[in-house]
Amino acid sequence: MSLDALNGGMEREFDALSHGFNIYNREIVAKNYDKNFIRAFRQIEFEKLIPQILTIHCDNGWKQLKVFEGGVGTGLFTIPIINYLLQRDSKSFLVGRDNSKAMLEELFKKPEFQSIQDRAEGRVSLGYGDLEQEDGYPKIDFNILFFAGVLHCLANQHFFLKQIDRILEKAGILIMIFKTDVFTRLQCGERSSYPSVDTHYGNFWRYYYHLRDYYNIPINPRCRFIYDASAVNKLIQRQFNACYELQKIYEFTWPSVVPLDKIIYSIEHGLTFATGQGVSPGMRKKLAEEMRGWLSWNHRQNKEVEIDHKMELVVWKKTV
Ligand SMILES: C[S@@+](CC[C@H](N)C(=O)[O-])C[C@H]1O[C@@H](n2cnc3c(N)ncnc32)[C@H](O)[C@@H]1O
Repeated sequence: MSLDALNGGMEREFDALSHGFNIYNREIVAKNYDKNFIRAFRQIEFEKLIPQILTIHCDNGWKQLKVFEGGVGTGLFTIPIINYLLQRDSKSFLVGRDNSKAMLEELFKKPEFQSIQDRAEGRVSLGYGDLEQEDGYPKIDFNILFFAGVLHCLANQHFFLKQIDRILEKAGILIMIFKTDVFTRLQCGERSSYPSVDTHYGNFWRYYYHLRDYYNIPINPRCRFIYDASAVNKLIQRQFNACYELQKIYEFTWPSVVPLDKIIYSIEHGLTFATGQGVSPGMRKKLAEEMRGWLSWNHRQNKEVEIDHKMELVVWKKTV
């Protein structure tokens, strides 16, 4: 099937978007995603990292790279991947899918994307696809699969792994990225067993947990996957009977300085995992009010905290 044909029917499929709950379908999340003060993503780092990883792990004998990216989002990794493919040769291509129209629209609006659009024509297909459905996966084979921050969004990881195994050629590589720092763990509901956390965040999260228990807010167990690369490796080994070889785990870190008030804004708007997964708008507002109260009782307005971010990029090779 050609890339043009793969693009067909996207608009129709957007209209059918109704099942499940996905915070990324919300415009406010999409709009704040890149400039999210909490994560403070460093696009420049991704631009350096992607060519390095692809150069190291792709077989030199491959005439073309055939890349599938699932959950492209606003294109933090997609744009560096496209840039790499365009400069590598005249044949390599990327198919990217996401089931959030709001996220994709942010990607399509980006000047960095618009500036490569002409050159990318015929080699890049970006659009709607639901990774929880069989037809969300293209009907062609790839030698590179790429998923950044996606696994925790999916209800059935076994179904996902089965599908990706179906579209990955033998000797192909599978790349996944996870956010693995303490801050993310806290946001996902892991209770602090890190001695430095209270000094770092001044009991902020402890109070937040107290509220979560008080209001009985559930923590989505899927969030665990977001920071557990080794659990994912175990899952892959079990599912594929050691046919996927773990090649390497790359860690990259960056700091950001964030006013506590902005973290509360994120809680209020469901921009964090602490409130993004199924907490109603009314409850988010209540939590935000309580946390603002906490800031003022503790005379901590305008207080900034430093957050150390860490991502792990994991590469597997399909050996059989
Ligand atoms: C945490 S964001 C990561 C976005 C991007 N890969 C990045 O690293 O910045 C997760 C993305 O996966 C997408 N997603 C979640 N569930 C999906 C599904 N079932 N099918 C396709 N995409 C999905 C979301 O819409 C969102 O854009």
